[in-house]
Amino acid sequence: MDSPQLERLSAWLRDHPLAVDAGLAVLFFLVFSVVMGAGSGSGDAAVFGLLLSVPLVWRRRAPVAAASAVVLLGLLQLVLASAPLLPADVAALVMVYSLAAYAPRWASRAGLAVGLVAAGLAALRYYSSYYEPASLVFMAGTIGVTVVAAWALGDLRRARLQQVAGLEERARLLELERDQEMRLAATAERARIAREMHDVVAHSLSVVIAQADGGRYAGQADPAAATSALEQISATGRQALTDMRSLLGVLREDGGREFAPQPDVAAIDRLVADVQASGLDVDLIVEGAPVTMPAGPQLAAYRIVQESLTNVLKHAGPASRAWVRLQWRPDALEVAVLDDGRGAAAAVAEEDGPVPSAPGHGLLGMRERAELHGGRLTAAPRHGGGFGVQAVLPYRSPR
Ligand SMILES: Nc1ncnc2c1ncn2[C@@H]1O[C@H](COP(=O)(O)OP(=O)(O)OP(=O)(O)O)[C@@H](O)[C@H]1O
Ligand SMILES: [Mg+2]
Repeated sequence: MDSPQLERLSAWLRDHPLAVDAGLAVLFFLVFSVVMGAGSGSGDAAVFGLLLSVPLVWRRRAPVAAASAVVLLGLLQLVLASAPLLPADVAALVMVYSLAAYAPRWASRAGLAVGLVAAGLAALRYYSSYYEPASLVFMAGTIGVTVVAAWALGDLRRARLQQVAGLEERARLLELERDQEMRLAATAERARIAREMHDVVAHSLSVVIAQADGGRYAGQADPAAATSALEQISATGRQALTDMRSLLGVLREDGGREFAPQPDVAAIDRLVADVQASGLDVDLIVEGAPVTMPAGPQLAAYRIVQESLTNVLKHAGPASRAWVRLQWRPDALEVAVLDDGRGAAAAVAEEDGPVPSAPGHGLLGMRERAELHGGRLTAAPRHGGGFGVQAVLPYRSPR
């Protein structure tokens, strides 16, 4: 037999414990009942041999029930059988082993205790049959030692099985953990791409639309204004295209390629100027001395200002002003974008509008960005009217 066949055989044996135990029980019956029992020449040996081999079939599947059956048969034998000990009583040792290996802890201990009591009872029975005083202690001792040995072997088997189960469980958990990590990484990456797509595309389109609307009105009276609006539109479109390209580059992941640098806090200057050029009256206020920050929170600050200004263009109403304030505090950069537009009324107006708007992704993305870098963000209509977005971005991420 070559090794794949051997492997298949051992796998089959592992997967069919009941069939294996049934085979062993038949073997047990043949050896201890038919061969050895016939040798002793008594009918008891054959009958009890048959009865005792039956519970062995379930020694692993239902060890406690099988052991109980063997105990009952042992008691019957004590009362009914003519000989004090039969070859098939080895079944009791097999059950002590099986309880120690496969049954719950309490049943394993009970198996040992009952086995030792049975050793005493068997010795007493032997003594009362033959009346040899020295034999009582010797018999009890001998049977007791075999019981303890069977139990110890079973206990070793249990330890080995537990070790294997522990290893298998560990391997399973590791695999699960790896799967989960991969899924989490994929989800985080998707959310990141969605945020970038949203901010780049929505902002540029809003600016382009504002410019186009402005240029359309200005065009009749002031052709120069229309030309500058068109210039602004093409500049915004080109910038958006560049941003999209770098985003698509990230999606493609041709390892090691350098992508266009992402905008940082310093680029907020230009951003505000661009939005100003598209017709919104917006001021930039910087307080404190700039601190060097990692690229991640810098991009977050830029995108938060970008989306907030886009929202002002979209939701605040035509005659509104906005303020962008950057405060370099000792431990964190505080970003605020405020306006004096429609504020809370904007949502109501949009609800009633001709095109029911889907719930936006802008605020959600801004909040995710701030939290990603250990900061927080609040966005709500302001008390005196208008809308306010405030974000705190720590210089050092807690993680
Ligand atoms: N400056 C603002 N003035 C008034 N309302 C605002 C302002 N900013 C946001 N809102 C309100 O908050 C809502 C959510 O904004 P959010 O940016 O999440 O979505 P959106 O701008 O409608 O869509 P998207 O950003 O996905 O294109 C807006 O629909 C609007 O009602
Ligand atoms: Mg928005």
